[in-house]
This record gives sequence, C-alpha cells and structure tokens, in this order.
Amino acid sequence: MTLDLSGQTALVTGASRGIGRAIARALAKAGATVAVHFARSVDAADAVADACGNGSQTFQADLSDLDATDGLIDEVTERLGGLDVLINNAGVAQSAPLDASTSNWNEAWTRTMAVNLRAPELLCRHAIRHFQARGGGRIINIASRAAHRGDTPDYMAYAASKAGVVALTKSVARGFGEDNIKAFAVAPGFTRTDMAQDFIDTYGEDYATHDLALSELTEPEDVAPTVVFLASGNADHATGTTIDINAGSYVH
Ligand SMILES: NC(=O)c1ccc[n+]([C@@H]2O[C@H](COP(=O)([O-])OP(=O)(O)OC[C@H]3O[C@@H](n4cnc5c(N)ncnc54)[C@H](OP(=O)(O)O)[C@@H]3O)[C@@H](O)[C@H]2O)c1
Repeated sequence: MTLDLSGQTALVTGASRGIGRAIARALAKAGATVAVHFARSVDAADAVADACGNGSQTFQADLSDLDATDGLIDEVTERLGGLDVLINNAGVAQSAPLDASTSNWNEAWTRTMAVNLRAPELLCRHAIRHFQARGGGRIINIASRAAHRGDTPDYMAYAASKAGVVALTKSVARGFGEDNIKAFAVAPGFTRTDMAQDFIDTYGEDYATHDLALSELTEPEDVAPTVVFLASGNADHATGTTIDINAGSYVH
C-alpha cells in the first residue's frame, strides 16, 4: 500500500492553524500540492505553504461571506491547474446561550451555519462540477463528535451544523459515486487547537478529557494521517462513511 499523492492538488480550508495545518503538512509530505486556505492569518498561512513546498500556495476567503466562498474553487483550479481533493476543514464554534438577545442568537446561528455548513456545501458544489469534468475526485469533510451526540446548550448551532456536514457528505457519496467522486467525513473529538482551548477555558480541562479511553487529548497530528489515507484512494470503497477520531470516547 502506498500513500503517494504526487501530482495531486488538494484544497484544505482553514489550513493556517490547528487541524487544517496538520492536514496540509501531512498531505504535502505524501507529495501533494496544497492550496492553503485561510481567512485572516496571512503570515501563518504563508508559513504553512512554505513548509508544504511542492508548489503549494495560499488562498484567502472569508467563508462567512458566501460570495467570497463561491469563487474559491475557480481560483484554486486557475492558479494550481486543477483540483483532485477538497478538504472542508475550516470551522467556527460560536456560543449562542438561550438567554442571548435574539439578534445575538441569530448572528451566532447564521455565522455558524455559513462557515460550517453553507461554505462546505458551496465548495462541494463547485468541486463536484470540476471533478465531473475531470473524471473523478475526493471530498473529505471535517465534522465533529458533536454531529452524533449533540453539544452543550450553548453550542447547539455547532452540533447542528456538523450533523448537516455528515448528511451532506453522505448525499455527495450517494449522488455522485457513478461520476467517480468519493466523499468521506472525519469526526474528531476534542483536539488540542485554538478552538478547543476556547471550550477548555469555558468548561475546564477535565471536561475535555474525562470521557476518553485514552489518557491524553488528541493532537492535530493524530487526525491528519486518516485524512491522507482517505485522500490516497486506499479507502474509496468506504465512500459515504464517517470516521471517528475521538480518543475512544464512545467506548469509555
Ligand atoms: N479542535 C477540536 O476540538 C475539534 C473537534 C471536532 C471538530 N473540529 C473541527 O475541525 C476543524 C478545524 O478546527 P480547529 O480546531 O483546527 O480550529 P482552529 O484552530 O480554530 O482553526 C480554524 C481554522 O478555520 C479558519 N476559519 C475560521 N473562521 C473562518 C472564516 N470565517 N472563513 C474562513 N476560514 C475560517 C481559520 O482561519 P484563520 O487562521 O485565518 O482565522 C483557521 O485556519 C473545524 O471544522 C472544527 O469544527 C475541531
């Protein structure tokens, strides 16, 4: 079995930090050219693209702006000559407490749905058309354990968006398998990133670790190899599946 992605181009959204950065670096290590997408962290994204090599480049788009999202796949295919793998990783976890004002509640749900679900759906749409013209491609959507078991009351929007990502992934796998397009979801549990730090600051480190079979928090580098494996084609007959990477929290 080989994990050789030489000659392949992968777009990783939210690749400037956290899980996306680890995925970008692991894909590049396997030979891929990476479109390193970011929203605001331009210096961090530049550093990731430099570390990736293989002609990797950065791409900026605020995924809460659906118009900005709409042009991203075209920009990647124009600048890098095509796209073989789309990895929808960028995400936000925004709190929406029950006692928030209705306008704050609406803002949190709207932004969460835009970045976590609408942007992946739009990027899937354009990637599918590109893949259909090229004879196939792979999509890997980063969901969350919250898609399956919900989240705390403050983060219902986050859980709902991630459940949507799982259903979107299954629909793409169902609908476009005959076009040689495969789609997978990866559902991490708590993973040590800036996003998880926000949860830990709110609920404490114990909240993140008390329900794990393993004794340590998952690192971004624990998630990335599975994404490389899915991107490599070795798991194509698992299309439509969701892979849990949550330090054994379902068996604890
Ligand atoms: N960490 C966890 O415990 C955990 C658990 C389950 C699932 N996940 C999922 O894994 C994915 C990565 O999370 P992470 O923990 O690595 O997050 P993170 O450390 O907070 O990084 C978020 C990434 O998404 C980008 N991003 C944020 N808002 C954006 C926007 N409006 N438009 C475009 N890009 C935006 C950021 O770009 P900038 O740097 O430019 O802001 C950054 O690259 C997310 O989908 C998250 O839901 C994380």
